[in-house]
Amino acid sequence: MSNNLLAGKKGIIFGALDEKSIAWKVAEKCVEQGAQITLTNAPVALRFGKIQALGEKLNAEIIPADATSDEDLENLITKSMEILGGKLDFVLHSIGMSLNVRKKRDYTNIKYDWMHKTFDISAISFHRVMQKAMELDAINDWGSIMALTYIAAQRTFPDYNEMAESKALLESFARSFGYHYGVEKKVRVNTISQSPTWTTAGSGVKGFKEFFDYADTMSPLGNAPAEACADYCVTMFSDFTKYVTMQNLYHDGGFSNMGMSPALIKIEE
Ligand SMILES: NC(=O)c1ccc[n+]([C@@H]2O[C@H](COP(=O)([O-])OP(=O)(O)OC[C@H]3O[C@@H](n4cnc5c(N)ncnc54)[C@H](O)[C@@H]3O)[C@@H](O)[C@H]2O)c1
Repeated sequence: MSNNLLAGKKGIIFGALDEKSIAWKVAEKCVEQGAQITLTNAPVALRFGKIQALGEKLNAEIIPADATSDEDLENLITKSMEILGGKLDFVLHSIGMSLNVRKKRDYTNIKYDWMHKTFDISAISFHRVMQKAMELDAINDWGSIMALTYIAAQRTFPDYNEMAESKALLESFARSFGYHYGVEKKVRVNTISQSPTWTTAGSGVKGFKEFFDYADTMSPLGNAPAEACADYCVTMFSDFTKYVTMQNLYHDGGFSNMGMSPALIKIEE
């Protein structure tokens, strides 16, 4: 059902790879709520993913961009404004990739070149997007910029590996850039800390099923699905959240505030 929460708004959605991607659901919900969008992903993902089908379905242009390339980002933002016919109102950063996770290196045996690349793709890209958007004056006043994160930034989840530090960096960029963007343009910057979700990036983490099941049992509401995350993103892009900025917002069925749950413990009588 549409309430036209995003009527007249224009945005860029990064990171829709296939129908499981959180960004895929966000793109669908934004258009359903009246927004016009462009879609983007890394050139390699355009070859292997299914984003073309999403573009056709949503009548959205796809502009390739490696989020670690300033040149690609400049082209993406400039073209998006041309296609959409004006400045942007929202951006979703939904990008995560760890080379050490992908290549199954343990946290205590990290390859630092890969770690740098991981930080560049998964966190510094967020700063790059905002810096480029600010330089091009591409976001309307009271615009909204979001990135997706995970609670491993605050708590230890051993198999999450160097992505934990990536997420800590990402969340810190939201606070720091959120200050500057707020003062300059009234643009808000936030992160949503999402429950474990069955996607390509999520299920690439070792022991993902245990991650997922543990959080699902621990959370009073159960794990938040990708569709609900997309709904939350829509509200964060809408005018109903204009004064929320520099926050890390948990969207996790209550997991982050749990200490112990009887559901997880069998006490022997
Ligand atoms: N799935 C989970 O359990 C979970 C939980 C919390 C947060 N998140 C976060 O949600 C976001 C989206 O992930 P997802 O779970 O939907 O998985 P996904 O694999 O569908 O999305 C990750 C995206 O990052 C893109 N990407 C990788 N390298 C890139 C680059 N250099 N330039 C541009 N794009 C690049 C991929 O092509 C892909 O589309 C990530 O930030 C992830 O860390 C996921």
